[in-house]
Amino acid sequence: DKVRVFAPATVANMICGFDILGFAVNEPGDEVKMYRVAEPGVRIRSIAGDDGRLPLDADRNTVSACVKMLLRDLGVADTIGVEIELIKHMPIGSGLGSSSASTVAGLYAINALLGTPLTKEELMPYCVEGERLACGHGHADNVAPALMGGVTLIRGQEALDVIKLPVPGDLYAGIVFPQVDVPTRDARQLIKDKVLLKEAVVQWGNIAGLIAGLFQNDYDLIGRSMQDVLIEPTRAILIPEFYEMKRIALECGALSFGISGSGPSVVAISRGEDIARVATTKIKEHLSSKEIDSYQYVSAV
Ligand code: HSE
Repeated sequence: DKVRVFAPATVANMICGFDILGFAVNEPGDEVKMYRVAEPGVRIRSIAGDDGRLPLDADRNTVSACVKMLLRDLGVADTIGVEIELIKHMPIGSGLGSSSASTVAGLYAINALLGTPLTKEELMPYCVEGERLACGHGHADNVAPALMGGVTLIRGQEALDVIKLPVPGDLYAGIVFPQVDVPTRDARQLIKDKVLLKEAVVQWGNIAGLIAGLFQNDYDLIGRSMQDVLIEPTRAILIPEFYEMKRIALECGALSFGISGSGPSVVAISRGEDIARVATTKIKEHLSSKEIDSYQYVSAV
């Protein structure tokens, strides 16, 4: 009576689609081990890889709080007992959907332990609630790809409407996480809630172009569409060396470069794994010349 679940990191926004697009990567990701126990209730046994930053209190920890919510809704909170081991394999506050990966792994695990009473679609609102607990806003662009895999479009936010999109086979993401902390909550407060119509027109042209590019396997269209005129100019300020990293990525032949989620991780979208690898390596070298530590990951989109 135990399960072990891995949920992947995700790149929210896909550069131009703030809060509506995201994709899952192969690594890193978080792991949840969940055990059925006789005593009813939800408890955290241990958390590893978080540098002691996450609460062990089951009411305050996002993973256990979501599991409790699901057990309550299923009417079994007083009878089922589970204990959780959370193993984080990625940094918190990195812009890689760290909290989402843990939440999705936890909810998938409890659903599996109970004999899969809910479909993935039915699990989704609980995942979104976890995101709300973690950062104050229930966007689904990390949890949806973490749960469904691949590229997902969140067409509707209030009444959740999640659509899985096709991905051309040779599309790769080179991700660099410069080791500075940017909490999503702060990165959301920074952005203005009004946009200029002429900028909005550019942005939705790009989003539509990206979707068309994904369907048509058109890498050039994907590349020229993945540009963010609304959010990036504001958030780039929080990310050291952002424009220099962008210059390096594009010089290496990346199709596009931008912020992963709310940052500080950045992503170089490339045709082929080699370009993604070279771009991330060069960016990492540049960051270390500025005495900024970083992690790098390369994955198929
Ligand atoms: N869409 C969200 C944002 C993702 O950009 O704030 C945060 O993980």
